Order: sequence, then C-alpha cells, then structure tokens
Amino acid sequence: MKNLGILLSGRGSNFMAIAENVRRGAIPAQISAVISNRPEAPGLEHARQLGLNAISIPSKGKPREQHDQEVIAALQAAKVDLVCLAGYMRLLSPEFIRAFPQRILNIHPSLLPAFPGLDAQKQAFDYGVKVSGCTVHFVDEFLDHGAIIVQKVVPVLPGDDDHTLSARILEQEHLAYRSNQHCCKRGVQNRGQKSGAQ
Ligand code: GRF
Repeated sequence: MKNLGILLSGRGSNFMAIAENVRRGAIPAQISAVISNRPEAPGLEHARQLGLNAISIPSKGKPREQHDQEVIAALQAAKVDLVCLAGYMRLLSPEFIRAFPQRILNIHPSLLPAFPGLDAQKQAFDYGVKVSGCTVHFVDEFLDHGAIIVQKVVPVLPGDDDHTLSARILEQEHLAYRSNQHCCKRGVQNRGQKSGAQ
C-alpha cells in the first residue's frame, strides 16, 4: 500500500476528494501526512477532523530551503511514497524535487502548458478559450510545469463567467487525481520523463 503525502495551503477541496477516494478504495493508497504551510488552512482542519496526521509547518518568514527541509523531513518521517500538491501555493526548491524524484504530483486548473500561475481559470476565460480544464502533472522546479499525466477538458458554455467555469473545472479536478490512481498502484517509476509521459 502506497503512502500519500498531501501538501495544501487553503480550502482543501482536492484533498477532501482524494481522502474520499482513498476511503472508498478508488485510490489504492493511504494518506500518511497532510501538511500545510498555512496553519489556518481549512484543509488542515478537515484533515484533523478525519483523524489524519495533520501537520502545520508555517512558511512565513522562513527561507524557502529551510521550510522545504522541514517539509521533506515530515514527509520522510511519515514514510511518504508519493506527494500530491493540492492547492499548495509554494514553488518547490530543487532539493525538494530531488528528495522525491518523479514522486511529486500537482493539480492545476487549466490545460497546461496554457495558463500557468494564479487565477488560471480567469486567465483562460479572459483569453476567450472555448475549452479549458485541469491537469495533473509531475512537478519540477518551475511553476505549473512538468510532464502531464492526466487532463480533463471542460467546455466554456454560453453564459459562462470565470466563476461558473471555475466551478465546473473544480468538479473535474476532483475526478482527475482519481484517474491518476494507476500511479499509486504501480508506483511512479519510469513516468515523468518527457519521452515516457503519456
Ligand atoms: C485548485 O484549483 C487547484 O487546481 C489549484 O489550487 C486550487 C486548490 O483548491 N492548484 P482546493 O484547496 O483543493 O479546494
């Protein structure tokens, strides 16, 4: 059974979707740590209420490398195999990436490589795209960058605004990490190389 580590900074709806899928066996893994760089993150409180190993490691005022070292240590102490970023609002240092090679995934609310960064749904909507969606991808040291694992497409409907589009993308986000469950089953070896990604 693979151990998942979840990193989040806020609401935690993607974490909750992962937790629900783990609970009912749709993701063949267990959550061994939920870590937030923001102590007040609602997602961390949800994790506590679920009885999970919820850990606050504040990032405020700390150099990135120091904070990352603390997070790496907590993930290793929890014997995490696979790290899932779920609304984690931090760029990871190269040391972090090296500590979990090809074992860090992120979810982003656009069809990468289009619209990385904040407010991706609004960026896409304002650009006039006709389809958007979400992407689960391996993480490297660049923002919302790395080999793509899963994408879900969401059409922009007549009458949409960026809020209605975001809500429909979020529904697909909650399914996308589940589609990625083969990574948990087989481990993540040999994935994430650009040449080997599907
Ligand atoms: C999601 O849209 C995710 O794709 C992005 O940050 C948001 C986090 O939402 N990386 P939540 O905290 O999981 O509800």
